[in-house]
Amino acid sequence: MRRVTLTQFLIEQQRAGRTSPDLRLLIEVVARAVKAIGVNVSKGALADLLGEAGTDNIQGEAQKKLDVIANEILLQANEWGGHLAAMASEEVEEVHQIPFDYPKGGYLLLFDPLDGSSNIDVNISVGTIFSVLRFPEGVKEPNEQCFLQPGREQVAAGYALYGPSTLLILTVGNGVHGFTLDREMGSFVYTHPFMTVPVDTQEYAINASNARHWEPPVQRYVAELQQGKTGPRGKDFNMRWVASMVADVHRVLTRGGIFMYPLDEKCRDQGGKLRLMYEANPMAMLVEQAGGSATTGRQRILDVQPERLHQRVPVILGSTHEVERVTAYHLEG
Ligand code: AHG
Ligand code: MN
Ligand code: MN
Ligand code: MN
Repeated sequence: MRRVTLTQFLIEQQRAGRTSPDLRLLIEVVARAVKAIGVNVSKGALADLLGEAGTDNIQGEAQKKLDVIANEILLQANEWGGHLAAMASEEVEEVHQIPFDYPKGGYLLLFDPLDGSSNIDVNISVGTIFSVLRFPEGVKEPNEQCFLQPGREQVAAGYALYGPSTLLILTVGNGVHGFTLDREMGSFVYTHPFMTVPVDTQEYAINASNARHWEPPVQRYVAELQQGKTGPRGKDFNMRWVASMVADVHRVLTRGGIFMYPLDEKCRDQGGKLRLMYEANPMAMLVEQAGGSATTGRQRILDVQPERLHQRVPVILGSTHEVERVTAYHLEG
């Protein structure tokens, strides 16, 4: 079998007119950063990398040491290549400007440097999520406003999953493609062409400890799933919840399923739990590119007009028939 590396895949995409040279460079740089993050994640206690950093981020969360390290790795790796106009990160309050002594490019990069960081200390899979937008023409100095584009404008999105193997899952708008890190060779190898999410599923993912805080449409939907064969759905459903969005969404992209972090009484004031720009939008693009669906319960995620960089939204994504059903329950109410 021909062994295709990420580099080769990207060059072929470029030849087919699906990526520009700068977007190719951007993805290569992200892939390099992700390898470095993976090395740090796997060192764990050996390098004193577990536990709290002792600081809070703009989200009001206590940062883990690895949140800070992963953020630094991504910022530094992407500053000097000349492909970016600016960056935005879950861990950074303001837009991160490219230092003035480096050239600037035509893209904006947004990321969740380490997703699932509450799982680091218990050695459960974590990840990195990223999203790429175009830097709007005619704007001189990149500001927050430049980033506030709906998710359908993304030119690329992806994530890395630091699990038993390190994976890079990517879309440039032509399906979803997965790569596995060959640690000996140091390269990502093309292992998962055109990943697809089946329209039907018997698996759901939700933090059930919030059940009493959910809105009625979600309560109704989950109650029906839990009634199994003898209930209105006429079949049994299994449940999984890793609490690392990357791992939960990767399962959906691998074998189908529905993933939900809906609006509830605990996160209502913030508009949801997950971040629109770093989590919901890139995952929604990937899931749609794989044939699935992604809504807030009331609206397609990729059509949400962002108002703030760190905005949060409810997220319901995965197998289309299930996402449509729970969305219909919201719209009926
Ligand atoms: P992050 O670690 O980047 O802050 O994201 C954590 C998110 C997401 O990965 C996961 O789906 C969710 O938080 C888990 O939330 P609960 O702890 O409420 O289950
Ligand atoms: Mn966080
Ligand atoms: Mn996250
Ligand atoms: Mn994070």
